[in-house]
Amino acid sequence: MSNCLGQIIGYLAVLGSATACFAQMTSIELPRDHPFSQIKAGAGDEVVVRSCAICHSTDYIVGQPHLDAQRWNAEVQKMIKTYGAAINDTDAKIIADYLAKNYGTVAESQKSGNCGRDALPTVKLAFAD
Ligand code: HEC
Repeated sequence: MSNCLGQIIGYLAVLGSATACFAQMTSIELPRDHPFSQIKAGAGDEVVVRSCAICHSTDYIVGQPHLDAQRWNAEVQKMIKTYGAAINDTDAKIIADYLAKNYGTVAESQKSGNCGRDALPTVKLAFAD
């Protein structure tokens, strides 16, 4: 009986150390992304890169049409709820604010004080007869 107990304790010890291994911090170095994907510098940009570039390039952000604050927030929530992004509420708010300010609609950009500089240009097409 005591032999059996010793065996169980032995198994538990092995299991314990295996679990400890899983809990260890792992660092992953991502390959350098192409220059197009570089997001604008601004409050919260580091949180965005840390949280969003884990699954895909930030070119998903840069290449997105300019969305308003509500839509950016919905996009962040979609990443969390649908795709399982591990982002806490505080960071989700920082990210949504960053996106609305830097990749928002003209109105949002003006609110942030950058005068709609990033608004898409109006293009007039003229056709030769
Ligand atoms: C857990 C993985 C994961 C994380 C983290 C993640 N995404 Fe995504 N994201 C996805 C997947 C999967 C898709 C869909 C890919 C496809 O259709 O090619 C996607 C697509 C997108 C798109 C394209 C539009 C769409 O809705 O499909 C945008 C914009 C986007 N992500 C932004 C973000 C932002 C901003 C963050 C950080 C808050 C983020 N993602 C974090 C997995 C993730």
